[in-house]
Amino acid sequence: MTLNEIRERYLKFFKDKEHAIIPSAPLVPENDPSTLFTGSGMQPLITYLLGEKHPEGTRLVDSQKCFRAEDIEDVGDNRHTTFFEMLGNWSLGDYFKKEQIPWIFEFLTKEVGLDPKRLYVTVFSGDEENNIPRDDESVAIWKELFEKEGIDAKVVKLLTEKEGGELGMQGGRIFYYDAGKNWWSRSGVPGNMPAGEPGGPDSEIFYDYDEDKHDTAFGEHCHPNCDCGRFVELGNSVFMEYKKNEDGTFSKMEQQNVDFGGGLERIAAASIDEQDVFKVDALKVITDRIEELSGTSYDDPELTVSYRVVADHLRGAVFMIGDGVVPSNTEAGYFTRRLIRRAVRHMDLIGMKENTLFTIVSIIVEKYKEQYPNLTEKLSVIEGEIKDEEKKFRKTLEKGLREFEKLSAKDISGHDAFILFSTYGFPLELTLELAGEKGVKVDKGTFNEEMKKHQKLSRTASVGKFKGGLADSSGETTKLHTAAHLLLESLRRVLGDDVYQKGSNINAERLRFDFSHPGKLTDEEKQKTEDMVNEQIQKKLSVNCEEMSLDEAKKIGAMGVFENKYGEKVKVYSIGAGDDIYSKEICGGPHVGNTSELGHFRIKKQKASSAGVRRIKAVLE
Ligand code: ALA
Repeated sequence: MTLNEIRERYLKFFKDKEHAIIPSAPLVPENDPSTLFTGSGMQPLITYLLGEKHPEGTRLVDSQKCFRAEDIEDVGDNRHTTFFEMLGNWSLGDYFKKEQIPWIFEFLTKEVGLDPKRLYVTVFSGDEENNIPRDDESVAIWKELFEKEGIDAKVVKLLTEKEGGELGMQGGRIFYYDAGKNWWSRSGVPGNMPAGEPGGPDSEIFYDYDEDKHDTAFGEHCHPNCDCGRFVELGNSVFMEYKKNEDGTFSKMEQQNVDFGGGLERIAAASIDEQDVFKVDALKVITDRIEELSGTSYDDPELTVSYRVVADHLRGAVFMIGDGVVPSNTEAGYFTRRLIRRAVRHMDLIGMKENTLFTIVSIIVEKYKEQYPNLTEKLSVIEGEIKDEEKKFRKTLEKGLREFEKLSAKDISGHDAFILFSTYGFPLELTLELAGEKGVKVDKGTFNEEMKKHQKLSRTASVGKFKGGLADSSGETTKLHTAAHLLLESLRRVLGDDVYQKGSNINAERLRFDFSHPGKLTDEEKQKTEDMVNEQIQKKLSVNCEEMSLDEAKKIGAMGVFENKYGEKVKVYSIGAGDDIYSKEICGGPHVGNTSELGHFRIKKQKASSAGVRRIKAVLE
């Protein structure tokens, strides 16, 4: 089956079970300063998992675009990609284990047609320290399901080293693992979770590619979580029903949620019984095209890694630029740059030394045009950005490679790695990769320090690591969120109706707000904006939320970031009531109940963000 077929079937399967289909959130999250990219389906839905009401109801289904920056160096094997789609179905305090497990089993075996004998599952073995019980309920459900298929599903209790032995498969079908494997939260095991963070036991489903194959380099015995490649995880049902308290203990949340995340590409690969995820149609069209262009073969063992890097990175760059993340040296844009540059160097290794990456873009977009029409709309922008970036990098690539040869006579210092970056445009992983090929080391630590100093890239280092606070619903963040609505409306009243929100980023300390406006605000405009916000705070306006269709919301003049895709039903937050409504915005929340909670609003800084976009930094005191 193709990616499109599987995605479509999945959405329909759950739609028939009364789930509302919701669109994918953008790759760069709004209002979540804790991470640069959306790396899982639950990130954009976190407030709803914590109890906020979703306008589309308590059963949702989607396919979320994800980017995992931390996997960039792993791309090249048969299963890692930086960009992927995560199929998700969600119960927001609605159904739980006894519906979820049979449904996902039915989807994989009946809709995708996977042989149940090839499926193995894992469950949570409990966490005594935190008083969280073993998940015997899921085991019983799995056992019955396998039995109905004529499979006697043996339960294996002892497996990980910590649990007392590397005993291997032991004829098992259902395996208990501890929180290291079968607990899911954005920050990992219970001990690492910040207060307020939700999490829960999970149950993973693995596909067995070959029962006779095990690579003992990964341990004496094989088991579902062994990394030898025999088993590939297809999906994970998280039973998100716990929340960490301030004192470090765990309590059940008011609502029991299900967060299922399935790897679309991996399910597609299993459907064609292919262990190599790059054989899936949407990636294979890229490698096929490179074969045509270069006259080389994907199967040439010298070139397979390069083919995979180009296929993954180019597709990633297409989606990034489609979501507005153009190549640059800062924050998210730096990843787009790295993807393209690493792809260029691997095209080079395949023997393609001309500017050709951009010619492959339309083939990728064609595969995704139904699900992501924004790619078709932006096709020429995407091609243009990739073409420019390739050209820019090719100018310095050869000189850089010569410089690398000189510098790599011995181990490469962080300073030299930085010179390769700043003068020749070599992203760090390119230097690391070249150094690896040559067998010399690179001082990554010093490189990163230099990088931070010079580029103020401090956020890059924390990519993928949640530090807590999150896109949280902590009091301070919620207050600043409401202040952002007041700020947008005040800017529009002071500067005019051409002002639109272009992005925002809020944490507990401050609010960062981007909006369309050609020039600097005068001192007077700044003061007036600030005063207007404070006036609304003093008026003690109530904040109200209403659900309506997107059309209705537009009709009543609610503001929104319309470049984002909204679902059919949205929430509109109004500040003020009756004749005195100050602001109306389409927004997921959460917000304070009354502006009197905000305190004093102050604009601390303003600067240009990009062409025609200004950025304001503001605080509540
Ligand atoms: N949130 C879960 C994951 O990403 C489903 O694996």
